[in-house]
Amino acid sequence: MRLVLLPVPLIALVGCDFYPEADELPSVPYLDCNPAIGVPAISGGPSDVPADAHAESYGASPFPVRVRYNWPSYDPSKSAAFLWSTDVDTLASSIEYGVGDALDRTFEGASFRFGGGEDGEGDHRVHEVRLCGLLEPGTTYSYRVGGPEAWSQTYQFTTPQAPGTFDAFRVAISGDARGSYESWGTIVAAMDAFDPDFFMFSGDMVDLGPDQGEWDAFFDAAGDVFARRPLLPAHGNHEFLAVNYFAQFALPGNEEWYNIRFGDLSMVSLNDTVRDFDHVEFDAVALMNQAFGENPSGWKVAMHHQPIYSTCTTHGSYEGLREVWEPAFDAHEVHLVFAGHNHIYERSVPIRAGEQVPVEDGTIYVVSGGAGAPLYEESDAEWFGDVANPVEHFVIADFTATEATLTAYDLAGNVIDTFVVPR
Ligand SMILES: [Fe+2]
Repeated sequence: MRLVLLPVPLIALVGCDFYPEADELPSVPYLDCNPAIGVPAISGGPSDVPADAHAESYGASPFPVRVRYNWPSYDPSKSAAFLWSTDVDTLASSIEYGVGDALDRTFEGASFRFGGGEDGEGDHRVHEVRLCGLLEPGTTYSYRVGGPEAWSQTYQFTTPQAPGTFDAFRVAISGDARGSYESWGTIVAAMDAFDPDFFMFSGDMVDLGPDQGEWDAFFDAAGDVFARRPLLPAHGNHEFLAVNYFAQFALPGNEEWYNIRFGDLSMVSLNDTVRDFDHVEFDAVALMNQAFGENPSGWKVAMHHQPIYSTCTTHGSYEGLREVWEPAFDAHEVHLVFAGHNHIYERSVPIRAGEQVPVEDGTIYVVSGGAGAPLYEESDAEWFGDVANPVEHFVIADFTATEATLTAYDLAGNVIDTFVVPR
């Protein structure tokens, strides 16, 4: 098996301008819920190196930890993936699952090891099971992962109804946890108390993407929340396109940009920290054209990391990105765009074609970058800024057939902003 080893200098780099060399992204179309589990590479996308098949072998710490329920398909009503970690010697990668309380079905996954140095110290094993098209919509399942000698505890999740068949749901949004996982844990618990259908995270989960210890801290802080409800991420500049990012999630497409259909929502997650700006200019726009174009009358939401409209002076607005993505947001009349990067809560006025417009005609840009990372205090008055508040926070969004109500909360439970977006 090929080990994907990270160059030592990468781990030492803290700046935001360095990204690993990688091959061109493959030209083959990405499979939706690809059932073949490969060893993730720095470049992400499909892997031609198969992961280690399930085997009844157990190492020193075989009991699954950091168990997560993921959505590997744009249609989460029929497919799911499950990820967890063990010591590197455990090759048991199976699931027992069933409807309600039953555990009467089994399926085998695979696992891969990555990280650490050439002596293998610090190597990490992640297990994945992908149930592609094997689930029924609107059904509660129980499951446990591992193998007969070391099962996880039993968890439950509920698949959504089929896309387009329901129109009321709740989403919890946050971003920028990096380095402060105590605050992040508090925020996850507070968001979970709102009973959201899923979580969105706008990037910078960790400070150094190649540091698996940070990823472990990020997921440990969340307890078992993500074993029951999925976390949909955007890739942030602090993830560094590290193999660790791709190893933590099972997402549609190449995991850098992907779309999810949930009810009458099309949610597109985009990567704005790329090896080649062509990916931003062409691949990401092509995905938006496809995803939003297939759901022209639905809710349209985009998420990425570096905001194109921000009054926060630390990083400001990413104007080069605005030039290439705002026309797509405008063309598809995207309702909401979530970003982070500036460690603050911000909401723009409704914008279309670079000008303020009535709320029913524009896109609202939200910066939610206060999930633990050091806060950025300074903001300038700008024509596009409506609300700016440098405080740790999260956002709860309630979507109905006619409007979305978004409320931002601080960690004490105070409402710091609320607004309504008409469909
Ligand atoms: Fe960032």
